[in-house]
Amino acid sequence: MVKLYDVLSCKDLDKEEFLHVLKKASEMECLVSKKGKLNLLEGKIVTMAFFEPSTRTRLSFETAAHRMGADVVGFSSTESTSVKKGESFEDTIKTIDQYSDVIVIRRADAGSAKRAAEVASAPVINAGDGPNEHPTQAMLDLYTIMKEKGTIDGLTIGLIGDLKHARVMHSLAHALSNFNVKLYLLSPEFLKQPPEVMDHLKAKNVRFEEVSALNDEIIKDLDVLYTVRVQRERFPSEEDYLKARGSYIITPNLLKKARNDLIVLHPLPRREELPPEMDDTPYARYFEQARNGVYVRMALLGVVARVL
Ligand code: NCD
Repeated sequence: MVKLYDVLSCKDLDKEEFLHVLKKASEMECLVSKKGKLNLLEGKIVTMAFFEPSTRTRLSFETAAHRMGADVVGFSSTESTSVKKGESFEDTIKTIDQYSDVIVIRRADAGSAKRAAEVASAPVINAGDGPNEHPTQAMLDLYTIMKEKGTIDGLTIGLIGDLKHARVMHSLAHALSNFNVKLYLLSPEFLKQPPEVMDHLKAKNVRFEEVSALNDEIIKDLDVLYTVRVQRERFPSEEDYLKARGSYIITPNLLKKARNDLIVLHPLPRREELPPEMDDTPYARYFEQARNGVYVRMALLGVVARVL
């Protein structure tokens, strides 16, 4: 029995819960292709409380809610809210809770989604809490891998780039720890995964190697290469950011020893780490990945609202 209610961290979920969401996402994809719009959440209100910028996450959640038949309210910056008048975060959430059947929240501080869940009675979905986690992104990443490869167990997956600040990398590592995978954690020494994530990987006996160079031996071994932008806004200074920028740039030339069926994923938005010349290679799957976000978020909304 899957009990998923608040979706706050991939650390809280087990394999059965991930597989349940993936299965429901696949059903949603199939239904959407036939009907476009479903009525599973008719009469429900989904609130998008986005205190931090977003394109894909907000729009794909809104698309997902509409396709499920729900109505959507919300805001996409604090400029237009009473936060500007000095209202506390808890009071804002308690108020939103009066109107909402599901609350989707993005905010710049770690732990904010958990704080929201503590005061809200509606289910809360974490759409990114600062540098901490982005669990729904990890779920759509898993869905994309499953769809492209037919399995997650048995794969060799490289996570490359700003593993320290990118919340997508933390959530994905936690999520993958439920599967029988081999991970390459590729980053410069000063951008390694935080200790909390590493402790979790060790506790779950995940096979991993931390390496700083993406050489041909590793490239040949990979089924999936997952890259991310260096998270400029999370660096203490511009100088530190400039040191990190351009650490790894994924080009067709770099991948010339890769297996034919390698897939390259990226949560987007991208900067120099993934030049547009990659888009025409057979490896690129990142725009499909963004599209998959709708099906996964439909499934999640349905699961937490107890209709799936
Ligand atoms: C990511 C995020 O917001 O953490 N983007 C997304 O949700 N697709 C990655 C990023 O901003 O680099």
